[in-house]
Amino acid sequence: MMIEYVDNELQIKGHPLSEVADKYGTPLFIYDEDEIRENCRRYHHALQKDEIGYSISYASKAFTSIQLVRLLREENMKMDVVSAGELYTALAGGMPAEDIHFHGNNKTREEIEYALSAGVGLFVVDALDEVALIDDIAQHPVQVLLRVNPGVDVDTHSYIQTGQADSKFGLSISNGSALEAIKEIKHSRNLEFKGLHYHLGSQLTEIQPFIDAMEMVLRWLKETDIQIEVLNMGGGYGIKYTEKDDRFPIEEAFEEIINKLKNLCRQYSMALPHIMIEPGRSIVAEAGATLYETGVVKEIPGVSRYVSIDGGMSDHLRTALYGAEYTVLPVKKEEGKEIRSHIVGKLCESGDVISKDIALPENITRGDLLVVKSTGAYHYSMASNYNQMRKPAVVFISDEGIREIIKRQALAQLIENDVT
Ligand code: LLP
Repeated sequence: MMIEYVDNELQIKGHPLSEVADKYGTPLFIYDEDEIRENCRRYHHALQKDEIGYSISYASKAFTSIQLVRLLREENMKMDVVSAGELYTALAGGMPAEDIHFHGNNKTREEIEYALSAGVGLFVVDALDEVALIDDIAQHPVQVLLRVNPGVDVDTHSYIQTGQADSKFGLSISNGSALEAIKEIKHSRNLEFKGLHYHLGSQLTEIQPFIDAMEMVLRWLKETDIQIEVLNMGGGYGIKYTEKDDRFPIEEAFEEIINKLKNLCRQYSMALPHIMIEPGRSIVAEAGATLYETGVVKEIPGVSRYVSIDGGMSDHLRTALYGAEYTVLPVKKEEGKEIRSHIVGKLCESGDVISKDIALPENITRGDLLVVKSTGAYHYSMASNYNQMRKPAVVFISDEGIREIIKRQALAQLIENDVT
């Protein structure tokens, strides 16, 4: 996100953040809409190679809303959903059902019925029992991919590793359950086997695991003489949260991955499959930031300083959950001394931390504004109403101006389902 100090105040696309806070309140999620579009286009450019058919399916879980779905549609993106709620939102935003892919390790009967009646184009089967379940509910042919577990370990937080042998996701290649599921799909009445899916984990920055997984899967396809039309390599492409992080090298990586795929297909005399990928975080994370207002500043002499903000783990869970680190900037730039500080939320948990031990101006006081960068993915979508906190508002900023795309929750909404 292009966020810069102009006359000692942070601006996004020419909008001073104090003005944005005055108009929309805090905590506030701010997205650079043009950057989200750019990110979609980058993937299109990286995958647009002759001979290769491809599609990019945005992973809703990173962040979804009606206006985002509209944008994705304009950028020729498809969408992944894993629940009735994500499906409902995708449809409400105008995503054609045939461009929606239904994932999830435990789809319920009701969700499958809903997705089938809506006309969802592709199901990613994640378990043996799902083959019979979808087949039983379906009244017409349904295209399916099988999620396999290639058994590739990746270097990321254990909570977001998914492609290792011991996982609740997918069917194992090595223990034969993937092969069994393919046989069942082929014997089913309504399911049409289209190909394979794997997702190795999230916030990955190395190309090698993708190469390893592809080699492993294609070798297995050759050995078992299974033909696929589609190869879905999942998402998980890493982004920069702080200066310490590397980004996944999108262009270089897909050049390498596609060359590898072509070579393997040639070597094994296989037809080139249609490629699918499912980026979530890398489309929205760096295009988003959170704006907070500071409240209590507590100094414990000789120990530390706590700067509290008006949100917390209800809109920023990743630090509490994964120990994730962020860059935090004061909206007003101050000359002079800085003090190491912990930025904490206002929820009743000691673990309600945004960022630990970062330098902030010595004279920060109640009413100042802070920005947390790279919060566009898995922040709003993992927001909760813990402590009856209201979910923040969300705005899109583009060259055309600012528009609110999600309103702040109202107090009344917190009890709207309560029986009185
Ligand atoms: N495809 C599948 C099948 C997935 O399970 C995921 C993420 C993605 C695609 C998108 O991954 P991405 O490109 O966004 O990394 N709450 C965690 C992330 C959990 C991701 C789960 N699956 C976080 O805050 O990091």
